[in-house]
Amino acid sequence: MSKTLFEMPFQLCTAAGGCRGLDAGFGGPLCPPPARAPAEAGPVRAMDAIPRESKGESPQVMMHHGEEAPVPYGRAPAAADGRAPAACRGIFDRTLLGGTELPNRIFRAAVGDRTEDGAPGPASLDLYGALADGGAGSIVTGFTIVDELEKGFMPIFSLAEDRLIGAHRALTDLVHSKGARIFAQLVQIGSYQSEEFHKAVTPRLPFLTLMSPSGLHDPVSGAAPREITPSEIRRVQSKHAEAAARAVKAGYDGVEIHAAHGFLLSQFMQPGLNRREDDYGGSPAGRARMALETYRAVRSAVGACYPVLMKVNVMDGFEGGCVFGEVLELCRSLSREGLDAVETSGCWRKIPEGSGPFFLKEAGEMAARITAKVILTGGLRTREDMRAALDSARVEYLGVARPLMRDPDFVDRIRREDRMAAESAAAAASAAQ
Ligand SMILES: Cc1cc2nc3c(=O)[nH]c(=O)nc-3n(C[C@H](O)[C@H](O)[C@H](O)COP(=O)(O)O)c2cc1C
Repeated sequence: MSKTLFEMPFQLCTAAGGCRGLDAGFGGPLCPPPARAPAEAGPVRAMDAIPRESKGESPQVMMHHGEEAPVPYGRAPAAADGRAPAACRGIFDRTLLGGTELPNRIFRAAVGDRTEDGAPGPASLDLYGALADGGAGSIVTGFTIVDELEKGFMPIFSLAEDRLIGAHRALTDLVHSKGARIFAQLVQIGSYQSEEFHKAVTPRLPFLTLMSPSGLHDPVSGAAPREITPSEIRRVQSKHAEAAARAVKAGYDGVEIHAAHGFLLSQFMQPGLNRREDDYGGSPAGRARMALETYRAVRSAVGACYPVLMKVNVMDGFEGGCVFGEVLELCRSLSREGLDAVETSGCWRKIPEGSGPFFLKEAGEMAARITAKVILTGGLRTREDMRAALDSARVEYLGVARPLMRDPDFVDRIRREDRMAAESAAAAASAAQ
């Protein structure tokens, strides 16, 4: 098998031949050749409820897009779409996402990184090293610019230039050396910056770089962008593709397209900000087109087997925001075209406080209706929150941001609690016999 651009530390992939996991125990082809067209999931239905406590490092392995390895505990028939019943999912299962093995179901959800030159520096290496040491199985980087025109918009990571690949490689090597996975989050900022940043910096930016779907005032930053043109739309898409190819070269395990939180791609999904009358607006399909075509561009740059994720808002929490049914349809289309996972988020103008999964209902509906895996992010604070998300919704992964900002060892604490719960359940079961 010849090596290609898409060869990753934990997988071999060729455009024609599919992927093969290299870790022991992954003998067969895991990812089918290109032109993946997983069957569309059926309508929402009641969750299976087969109780089984998590067993720590369960050997259960979920195959790509719904294929399932034999379930070792022998009590869990696969659901009609091939996934394990929700109650069979352990927080610390090892799973496969697009042919790449993930150590557990917990993602560190993206948290913006501060850097002046776009390169991960010593502070980022320290942070990501601590997160990996603390048991975070998969880490999504902070939002990372794809277009050099947006250099200077925010002091965050960049994959907009080849010269930055080496610095990103140092970050991915570090995370891999600790057994975790790392995904690069790609963003086109558009007109959405923090108000503070906008007042301080945007007056110095070239007017031409501030773009939004219809040139309406950004309600958050107050920025006054202009309407993006069709050729600039194509540029945004190809910039995502180029950055994704750099992410592959830099050793990332996958990329996440940021189509949430008021950045350019998510603005296309907002009827209030997208008043376009061309192919990129005017109807649900029109509003979804930008995200869909950006995904296609990224997919064609990275090949069929490389994990591609997308973060979306399931609700914006204000009038004129996205419509859940439209987001769901977008995610169904993305799933049909091979998107590996959708991360559900929302209400980004004011991230809700408090505990308990914020978007459980929407994520559950999403998970029941699409074949891409769902990462539920927002409000997960305890092992019980996580179990509820796995048991009552068919989500596959759990995204956590703020708890890990406070405590990089948060995941290891959940792991200890999970083991204790499994031991108590086993003790109770044997006492009952
Ligand atoms: C300081 C901070 C920075 C964030 N940066 C990003 C980011 O770069 N990209 C992103 O998609 N979300 C970002 N988020 C949102 C989180 O990924 C997550 O969606 C949100 O915090 C809800 O999850 P939580 O309740 O576990 O914190 C950020 C959140 C915080 C608090």
